Amino acid sequence: MVGMKKKSVGLGRLSLMLSMVQVLGAVGGGGVHPSKMRLVPAVYVLGDSTLDVGNNNHLPGKDVPRANKPYYGIDFPGSKPTGRFSNGFNAADYVAKNLGFDKSPPAYLVLKARNYLVPAALVMGVNYASAGAGILDSTNTGRSIPLSKQVVYLNSTRAEMVAKAGSGAVSDLLAKSFFLFGVGSNDMFAFAAAQQKLNRSATPSEVEAFYTSLISNYSAAITELYGMGARKFGIINVGPVGCVPSVRVANATGGCNDGMNQLAAGFDAALRGHMSGLAARLPGLAYSIADSYALTQLTFADPGAAGYANADSACCGGGRLGAEGPCQRGAALCGDRDRFVFWDSVHPSQQANKLGAKAYFHGPPQFTSPINFNQLANYNS
Ligand SMILES: *[C@@H]1O[C@H](CO)[C@@H](O)[C@H](O)[C@H]1NC(C)=O
Ligand SMILES: *[C@@H]1O[C@H](CO)[C@@H](O)[C@H](O)[C@H]1NC(C)=O
Ligand SMILES: *[C@@H]1O[C@H](CO)[C@@H](O)[C@H](O)[C@H]1NC(C)=O
Ligand SMILES: *[C@@H]1O[C@H](CO)[C@@H](O)[C@H](O)[C@H]1NC(C)=O
Repeated sequence: MVGMKKKSVGLGRLSLMLSMVQVLGAVGGGGVHPSKMRLVPAVYVLGDSTLDVGNNNHLPGKDVPRANKPYYGIDFPGSKPTGRFSNGFNAADYVAKNLGFDKSPPAYLVLKARNYLVPAALVMGVNYASAGAGILDSTNTGRSIPLSKQVVYLNSTRAEMVAKAGSGAVSDLLAKSFFLFGVGSNDMFAFAAAQQKLNRSATPSEVEAFYTSLISNYSAAITELYGMGARKFGIINVGPVGCVPSVRVANATGGCNDGMNQLAAGFDAALRGHMSGLAARLPGLAYSIADSYALTQLTFADPGAAGYANADSACCGGGRLGAEGPCQRGAALCGDRDRFVFWDSVHPSQQANKLGAKAYFHGPPQFTSPINFNQLANYNS
């Protein structure tokens, strides 16, 4: 919106812009495109490859997963790879779009490199998500920015914001802003892979201990953000990870790995219980859990009803289920990308991201609890 060429934004300018947004919103947008009406002043994103918009492109290390080559981004404006693990926009983009933004706020490491962190943080938000990231620091260590480090980065961003705009303005901004979380799949993959390596399945008590450490870390992250002033938490839960093409391809029938799905479902149940306890303890905290698991299972049960022609294969890849080769230039590419649930062997297509965010904002109500993302955005503590 307002031209943001300068490197610094004074508090006066910030509140002017915020009040302009509010005024335009109240007037009903005479001359302003309705999609520009923001429901919240800013969006801050923490999570994994489902939400990464370029952090890993700026993360050193040869084993860092990066979506920095074609055909990633083939349907993105300009048809260019941006670090998103999608043919176009990802889930962070569609959540931001539904909140009235053009797309996700920029990646933290990109903003840092351009010396533009504080202005962005004050007027639109920041995306800290990193492909490969886990709730546990031990997941993909050295190849991503784990959740705990994303929290540290957000904390240091906040300190810089306070230095610029003052603590009152920043507290107010953060309390009204939308904090989007989507993380946990990589922890499931890492746990399953470790068991597979040992050629055994986990005992119930090992699974319980795994959940306990995940919940403890997830809870620490949310509580720390709450301590920084965050109040609105939109949480996308872990989907049926046993059904991604890269897992299906290990099964001779191409079927889902039920054990991995159960692992994810058990974690989602634990998270649901924990969040309701947390909300009861932390005054003013509001949250919405988006049930990616249930939505995806429903899609698998009847892909055609959601407009898909294929729900088990990668659009971009190679070999059986498109999951035996990487998505890269020269790979097999499906015809109609909007008719595939999966873009590559792990990640949803742009269309799946779009339909997901739509469900999280506008229902049906069984896909969000206790409120939907729209109600969360409009919540006043
Ligand atoms: C997760 O737990 C480990 C120790 O188990 C700790 O080192 C790490 O900082 C924790 N992360 C968060 C977000 O609390
Ligand atoms: C955030 O930073 C402050 C200092 O600026 C520090 O006291 C606090 O422990 C930090 N919190 C987290 C969660 O990193
Ligand atoms: C895994 O265990 C099964 C059954 O105990 C055994 O038949 C198989 O050879 C083992 N595989 C490896 C790689 O150790
Ligand atoms: C393979 O898929 C079938 C369904 O087609 C399922 O019943 C079976 O449990 C799967 N095997 C594994 C190891 O997940």
